[in-house]
Amino acid sequence: MADPRDILVTSALPYASGPLHLGHLVEYTQTDIWVRFQRMRGHRCIYVCASDAHGTPTMMRADEAGVAPETLVAEVAGGHRKDFERFRISVDNYQTTHSAENLELTREMYRRLKENGHIDRRVITQAYDDERRMFLPDRYVRGECPSCGAADQYGDSCEVCGATYAPMDLKNPVSVVSGTTPSLRESEHFFFRLSAFEEELRAWVPEHVDAAMVRKLEEWFRAGLKDWDISRDKPYFGFEIPGETGKYFYVWFDAPIGYMASFLQLCRQSAAAGSETLDFDDYWAANAKTELYHFIGKDIVYFHTLFWPSVLSGAGYRKPSGVFVHGFLTVDGKKMSKRRGTFIMASTYAKHLDPDYLRYYFAAKLSKSADDIDLNLDDFIARLNSDLVGKVVNIASRCAGFIHRHNGGLLGETLHDEELYRSFADAAQQIEADYEQRDYSRALKRIIALADRANRYIDGEKPWILAKDPQQSQRVVDVCTQGINLFRSLMVYLKPVVPGLAERAEEFLNGAPLAWSDAGTPLLDHRLRRFRSLLERVPPKEVQAMVDESRTGPDTPKPTYKDEIDIEQFARVDMRIARVIEAGYVEGADRLLKLRLDLGGDEREVFAGIRSAYRPEDLVERLVVVVANLKPRKMRFGTSQGMILASGPGGSDIFLLSPDSGAKPGMKVT
Ligand code: 2FM
Ligand code: ZN
Repeated sequence: MADPRDILVTSALPYASGPLHLGHLVEYTQTDIWVRFQRMRGHRCIYVCASDAHGTPTMMRADEAGVAPETLVAEVAGGHRKDFERFRISVDNYQTTHSAENLELTREMYRRLKENGHIDRRVITQAYDDERRMFLPDRYVRGECPSCGAADQYGDSCEVCGATYAPMDLKNPVSVVSGTTPSLRESEHFFFRLSAFEEELRAWVPEHVDAAMVRKLEEWFRAGLKDWDISRDKPYFGFEIPGETGKYFYVWFDAPIGYMASFLQLCRQSAAAGSETLDFDDYWAANAKTELYHFIGKDIVYFHTLFWPSVLSGAGYRKPSGVFVHGFLTVDGKKMSKRRGTFIMASTYAKHLDPDYLRYYFAAKLSKSADDIDLNLDDFIARLNSDLVGKVVNIASRCAGFIHRHNGGLLGETLHDEELYRSFADAAQQIEADYEQRDYSRALKRIIALADRANRYIDGEKPWILAKDPQQSQRVVDVCTQGINLFRSLMVYLKPVVPGLAERAEEFLNGAPLAWSDAGTPLLDHRLRRFRSLLERVPPKEVQAMVDESRTGPDTPKPTYKDEIDIEQFARVDMRIARVIEAGYVEGADRLLKLRLDLGGDEREVFAGIRSAYRPEDLVERLVVVVANLKPRKMRFGTSQGMILASGPGGSDIFLLSPDSGAKPGMKVT
């Protein structure tokens, strides 16, 4: 084997504002398999992670829960840690970014960047909530899309038409926090001068990022690198910027520094324990010889391939050796959605099913591409039962009983088919290459193909028939010794993917923990422990129970409402039934329809932003609910004398409220 490598690996830090879901686990599984593989190969591979503590969402959630953000973070991070344990994610250290080490390193990073001339001060204008006295992040302002008019869109981009804009470009912008209309306010912010790193990044990217991502980065380079606002105003949950008042580091500035901080904690723990020494500079100094890899999702590529290497370089640290990007998880072909109930929490899954099932399934879908992967629940059951239970574990269960009955649990002294065993051992090289390149799907295909061969071998030898003839007892032992050894080689190869199953197999095999080299050294003349079922078939009932529980799970977000009004205020809104007499398109307005309404002795003209959902001809004669006492609004195309009521997020999902057909125009809606 080549010289041992020194590798530091990270997964993206999950936000401490909420629990882990299966989408997170794609990444932790992907990282953990790689880490376990490297360790099995004899390399020193350190894996650190942490919960990403800071930012407005944490602050707001804590506020809603009536606790200090620190309390919320500690609690949520405790849950994250537990999920890591459940899914056997073998991190060497897991804390939060709200730590003394992260504060120390974030300040140091900022000091160095400032000293090296990479920080600028600039005054910017931002949406401000006067009632809550806070600046509003883009996502905390909602309103109608300035481009297509879709209702209730975020302040940065429209989910209906894809337009991007500034929060105050929204029509009728509303602060999510208080329900009031935001104002604009100026504030001084600190910018990291990313643009200065363009040349360095252009040289670094192709060598350190997968080819598919390089193309994406090309687009960003072409669009021009913009300097990065790394500060936020109070109130904010984060680290204060030294020497300033009421200014905090933006969560995305201190989060990746959290990788370093988690590692620093580990260095200090190891020094305190007097165990193996880990030197911070060996992994982070500009001239470090060690390897550093970040596993991330495709949504945070900009941060990790542009901001982060530049920040590191600008402050005189080393840059990553590689950034590995994966896609998102879909469930049954659709985006995970709380509304649809496909947002399955890690803890919900673990309550019902063995984490190794999911690790195996994800691995079978993961390659080095950043394409999305789909968890199809029927396929999940079928694949696990077929591959892992039906093919791999089956080898051991077919052979173990015979070894116990015919030889007191002792494996034979020789291999029955040396050549077959050798071919299993020789597969190691290709499987290694697959793991190394994160092509787990290919590794598993090879491993399952080997399992098929092992089963064919047993099918051909038919130990259950041989066992009926007392003369063939030795042959039964030989065949089953061969079978157990083939099973053992498969378990070596599968160990990074299914550590729980591997542990139970190790127990049955009654030896030291499986090492990579064990795939080439057979276990002979060795006593096995009694065979207990190593892995059950996936219980479909539990899969269903997990889905049902997620559908009504506690994590469906609570809707946020506007400020409370009293009954008098409500009574001032005069809602009436109206009949659509005419409906037509409005030239030059791609979202509006012009409606002529009969309110029972009163006719009105109303413009409604429902064109994306309704054809004019389908509306004529239809009853609608209209706010009749809304002050007429002058629009570009005419005056709208009222507003009709509809629900839905926009696009084709707009639903007019439909009164019963017995209702008559002019009736009051109460
Ligand atoms: O996108 C996220 O979930 C972030 N919390 C990831 C941070 S990764 C790193 F930079 F810290
Ligand atoms: Zn839009």
